[in-house]
Amino acid sequence: MKKLFIETLGCAMNSRDSEHMIAELNREEEYQLTTEVSNADLIIINTCSVREKPVAKLFSEIGIFKKYRKDGAKIGVCGCTATHLGKDIIKRAPVVDFVLGARNVSKINQVIKQKHAVEVDNDYDESSYEFAGYRTNRFKSMVNISIGCDKQCSFCIVPETRGDEISIPKKLIIQEITKAVLTGAKEVMLLGQNVNNYGRRFTDNNERCDFTQLLKDISQIDGLERIRFTSPHPLHMDDDFINEFVSNPKICKQIHIPLQSGSTELLKQMKRGYTKEWFLNRCDKIRKLSPEVTISTDIIVGFPNETDKDFEDTLSVLEEVRFEQLFSFKYSPRPHTQAIDYPNQIEASVASERLTKLQARHTEILDEIMDLELGKIHKVYFDELKANGKVSGRSDNGRLVFVEGSEELLGKIIDIKIIKTSRGALDGILID
Ligand code: 5AD
Ligand code: SF4
Repeated sequence: MKKLFIETLGCAMNSRDSEHMIAELNREEEYQLTTEVSNADLIIINTCSVREKPVAKLFSEIGIFKKYRKDGAKIGVCGCTATHLGKDIIKRAPVVDFVLGARNVSKINQVIKQKHAVEVDNDYDESSYEFAGYRTNRFKSMVNISIGCDKQCSFCIVPETRGDEISIPKKLIIQEITKAVLTGAKEVMLLGQNVNNYGRRFTDNNERCDFTQLLKDISQIDGLERIRFTSPHPLHMDDDFINEFVSNPKICKQIHIPLQSGSTELLKQMKRGYTKEWFLNRCDKIRKLSPEVTISTDIIVGFPNETDKDFEDTLSVLEEVRFEQLFSFKYSPRPHTQAIDYPNQIEASVASERLTKLQARHTEILDEIMDLELGKIHKVYFDELKANGKVSGRSDNGRLVFVEGSEELLGKIIDIKIIKTSRGALDGILID
């Protein structure tokens, strides 16, 4: 059997695209996954292009793969950087056999047969969307509900690499989740760049539906116990959505709400469409209605024009919302974005200082939050066997929990009492 080495960088959308490629490949010829480059017949790098660093790393990585691959092994560059750089990747690194864009992953079987094939078009018709039947974890499934992005956040390259936003027809989504449930998944993660903008751009013969209605309909699926989604956009978090989120018992009380900046002025320059007050109001409403909810966010520091006062605004949102998880980045100027031409780019040292300060404060908050977990009882869905006699799973609100146990726990939702806490995970015991 042929062996496949696949490295997936970036977001959940990329993880799902990797599953898609694995499924497509297996339709024609079975591949076994390997973690050793030197064993592989096919080496795929599924790239991310939101920041410059991973893009720069790509070429050094290709060099390493070239050195260690076995004779005749093919190297493919897929995903967002593939779309963004296209055939330039092959010009710069002729060892690369094919380049496959983020929106073209279903064409993997075509490109592996053609030397130096480049498929990076962004055309797409949602009525023919095909889900791929491969899951990294058999207890949960990732399902795309939309692809692409119609926003034009001034820092973001994604609309360029993933194309216009299209919504997948509801009946296909429901069919796909039903199939996953029948094959052992109790949990689904709905994926999209802006999931709560769902309903935008359907072909005429598809029933209209917004995200809130989609959640209601999905929660009717028998045997499905948990629904998660990533990511909603703060702008589209209306009261209907929040009411459904807090009151529907199948929707996990974990939500990622990307803030980007706490300064209303910078949010305007980022073209995010909301204010600091709107963001705080949405979080406040969710926390009041659902006290167990965990809220995570993305923050960019050092965006052009960011003053000390703007940064203080970001810190004040951190203090008020007390995010359980924070993904924070230094602004990275990207091609094809508006902000790359903004005046007053911030010095790297200032951005680094702000990032350190933000992360340090978040760590303190996180420690306080995690201390409160001791003695709590969570319903944990176990989905992974660990090497050290432990099994891991997630609480409804997304906390990673370990218990001692074996595969009998897998696929079950069990009450667990927390006996030890740390920043990243919790240890618990079964209660009966
Ligand atoms: N620089 C830094 N961070 C960025 N992100 C997107 N574009 C950039 C950029 N140019 C971050 C945003 C987004 C997350 C996925 O990546 O915070 O929410
Ligand atoms: Fe990028 Fe903004 Fe679209 Fe998110 S909403 S993918 S940050 S353009």
